[in-house]
This record gives sequence, structure tokens and C-alpha cells, in this order.
Amino acid sequence: MPSPDVGLERTDSVLTVRLDRPDKKNAIDRAMYGAMAQALRDAEQNDDLRCVVFAGTSGAFSSGNDIADFQRFGEDDAMGEVLAFLHAVADLGKPMIAAVDGLAIGIGTTLLLHCDMVFATPRSVFRTPFTDLGLVPEGGSSLLAPRIMGPGPAFALLALGQTFDADTAAQTGIVSAVTQDAEGTAIEAARLIAAKPPEAMRATRRLLRPDPAEVRRAIDREAAEFAQRLRSPEARAAFAAFLGRRS
Ligand code: COA
Repeated sequence: MPSPDVGLERTDSVLTVRLDRPDKKNAIDRAMYGAMAQALRDAEQNDDLRCVVFAGTSGAFSSGNDIADFQRFGEDDAMGEVLAFLHAVADLGKPMIAAVDGLAIGIGTTLLLHCDMVFATPRSVFRTPFTDLGLVPEGGSSLLAPRIMGPGPAFALLALGQTFDADTAAQTGIVSAVTQDAEGTAIEAARLIAAKPPEAMRATRRLLRPDPAEVRRAIDREAAEFAQRLRSPEARAAFAAFLGRRS
């Protein structure tokens, strides 16, 4: 099912998947996960499509999973769309690029670990406040972050919830380059990729990245723990504090 909060823009053989819910800083709800999962599955099947670009809106890539949904997941076990999206990301054999301008929180950061190139504006910030929310890392990040950054920075990001600015994200390998026009640079890179022989590109990417089956196993291991944590008093208190902060 499409979502009004996910834009799918096709230019030649590049698909841009845009998180477009600016009033909530592009927090991702179930419908958005479902729409993105379908878009990635379609992209995998479509031979004319060579590269996927993830983008957000001005000032926000994503503020992470919708916290109101976190509360509901705890009640009715409905993590299906999230897992469908994460599996589709792990399974996609085509290059993925992200353009980040501003906030990249939670899955807004962990999604980047699956991308082959990430471009970010200088005002971008990266944070995964999982433990503060009574949660654990998700999206394969417990596997990918230590590999990309090394164990120390991965612990600072995923366990301590430290905020990385754009330069720190670039130094630690989350971000490929810091640039004022992250989206323009991402599209340019996507076009370069799209112009290469697709089978050689696909095979090269497969060689460079961890085994998708291993990534899926990490996603599922994390999800099992995450589902437990969603019901914990620590997590429920953190969600209530965030959602009730204005009342
Ligand atoms: N889930 C649901 N709603 C969210 C959200 C999220 N993850 N992030 C932001 N929002 C909503 C806010 O509740 C607010 O809604 P309202 O206007 O109806 O009250 C709106 O988006 C704007 O957010 P606001 O907090 O006013 O903007 P800000 O610029 O002061 O702060 C953030 C932005 C992202 C730093 C802050 O909203 C935040 O910390 N969000 C939670 C991030 C998070 O923990 N995500 C989960 C990671 S696992």
C-alpha cells in the first residue's frame, strides 16, 4: 500500500524514496514502512532500475520510528511492516545511497549503515537513543556499526546514544562526504552508478557488503530482543514521557 508520507520519484533508472512527513520530522510509521518495503521489493524486480536514493525533507532525514507506534507495537505485536522493510533493505542487490539534511535519529541513522554512499549536509546530526528509550539497537546495526566504525565508536553511538555531528559521522565512516547539497550530490552519484554495467555493479556490491543472510539474522536477533524491550517498564515510561511532554 502506498503512503502519502513516502514519495517515490523515478528519474531514468534512479528511484528516490523520500520520507515526507515533515510535521513529525519524518518519523516513520507502519504505513510508511509498508510502502517502502513494497517499493524496494519492486525495485529489486525491475531490471531498468539501477540505484535507490533515500532522502528526507529540509532539516530532517528522519526522527526515527514513530514513538506512538512503538507503544502500539508493545500492545499488539505489530512489527510486521518494520521487519518487511528491514528485510527488503537487507535483500536489495542494487546500490543504495542516502542524502541526509539535518536530523537522522534511530532508524534514520541505522538505515544509513546499509547504504553504499551517504551524503550529509554540515548541519546533520546522527543519534540512536535506543538505551535511553529502554530499547536495543535495530536494523542490523549491532552487526554493521562495529564493522564500519570499529567497536568504540559503535558503542558510543548505539549504547551511549551519543550525538555524532556530520564531521564525526564522516570520520567514523557512516557518511561518505559532507556537502551543502547532499541530495544533488547523491543524485549525481546515483547517475554515475546507473551508467555502469549493472551486472558487474551488482556483483561488486555483493563482494563488498556482508552476506545478506547474515544481515537478516542480525535483524531478526535484534527484533526478538526489541519486541521484549518494547513491553518493558523502562521503555513504556520513556514513550509516555516523550508523548506526554506537552500535556
Ligand atoms: N515519533 C513520533 N513523533 C515524533 C517523533 C517520533 N520519533 N519525532 C518527532 N515527533 C513529532 C513531535 O512529537 C512533534 O509533534 P507535535 O508537533 O504534534 O507535538 C513533531 O514531531 C515535531 O517534533 P519536535 O520535538 O517539536 O521538534 P524538535 O525540533 O524540537 O525536536 C527531535 C526534534 C527529533 C529531536 C525530537 O522530536 C525527538 O527527540 N524525537 C524523538 C526521536 C526518537 O527518540 N526517535 C526514536 C529513535 S529509536
